[in-house]
Amino acid sequence: MAAVEEMTTVLEPSPLSDFVETKYVKDVTNRTLSYIKAGFPVHFRGPSGTGKTTLAMHVASKIKRPVVMIHGDEEFTTSDLVGGEHGYRFKKVVDRFVSRVLKVEEDLVKRWVDNRLTVACKYGFTLIYDEFTRSRPEANNILLSILQEKMMDLPVGRGGEEPYLKVDPDFTAIFTSNPEEYAGVHRSQDALRDRMITMDLDHFDYDTEIGITKAKSKLSENHAEKIVNIVRGLRESGKCEYAPTVRGCIMIAKTLKVQGTTPAKSNGSFSAMCQDILASETSRVGSKTNQDRVKGIVKELVKKYS
Ligand SMILES: Nc1ncnc2c1ncn2[C@@H]1O[C@H](COP(=O)(O)OP(=O)(O)OP(=O)(O)O)[C@@H](O)[C@H]1O
Ligand SMILES: [Mg+2]
Repeated sequence: MAAVEEMTTVLEPSPLSDFVETKYVKDVTNRTLSYIKAGFPVHFRGPSGTGKTTLAMHVASKIKRPVVMIHGDEEFTTSDLVGGEHGYRFKKVVDRFVSRVLKVEEDLVKRWVDNRLTVACKYGFTLIYDEFTRSRPEANNILLSILQEKMMDLPVGRGGEEPYLKVDPDFTAIFTSNPEEYAGVHRSQDALRDRMITMDLDHFDYDTEIGITKAKSKLSENHAEKIVNIVRGLRESGKCEYAPTVRGCIMIAKTLKVQGTTPAKSNGSFSAMCQDILASETSRVGSKTNQDRVKGIVKELVKKYS
């Protein structure tokens, strides 16, 4: 492969440590890989904590091409994705005969630096564009022709003979977004969405949620299960501003682990900890009545399950 000058932004696709592969995870992964094999970009859409980013990285590791990651950002412009002119190029000329003479010649052409998207298209890497709807649609427009015509329009200034770059056939794109953030903000991302296959993700199934809680905390199956029951009970109560996620399970499990205690032997501290963690995870503004209500529900769930 030609030297990739921009190598610093490229990640090696390696399997993630403590990654949990249940039937649910395998099914989503395999379906995604089929869509990608058929030539379509895939989009994981779902609320916070449904495993979008982790799955994107897992799928990328299966594709076995180097990975380029971009995080959507309101401030982004197209040149943040594609590249731009950065400073000048200096040429150092060392005179061999008069060794102390060091001439520095300034190359008057501004130096073009390719950014991540260009690098991915040029070398056929896997692009993960996390939370792409956070970027403004104008910044993302460049992706339309990349996904459809497999051509990337290059801004003037980059140099080269052609005004476009042919996208390498190995190029793959995986997107993630959260529909709660999408609402009303950047509707014109629709043209882009129309060019990808969207997989709607929901909270993990029971087995996967227990598996993740266990893997992240090293708690026993039995204790992980108790925690997951409490969190799922609260989620299903429908009384939260935001449904508690697997992150709540992980926080409770890790805390229990460092305390070195068990739900049953904790003298009520387990209940207090679940209330703190789950009340804070499920409300944005921290209204006292909301928090008290959630804490009340959690207290009952802890009694029931621990
Ligand atoms: N298959 C898995 N194995 C192990 N841990 C996982 C797995 N899937 C998700 N997780 C863990 O669950 C948590 C939530 O996953 P992730 O960050 O991918 O969700 P997300 O949908 O991208 O959330 P957000 O919208 O907040 O970015 C993380 O702590 C992640 O490490
Ligand atoms: Mg994420």
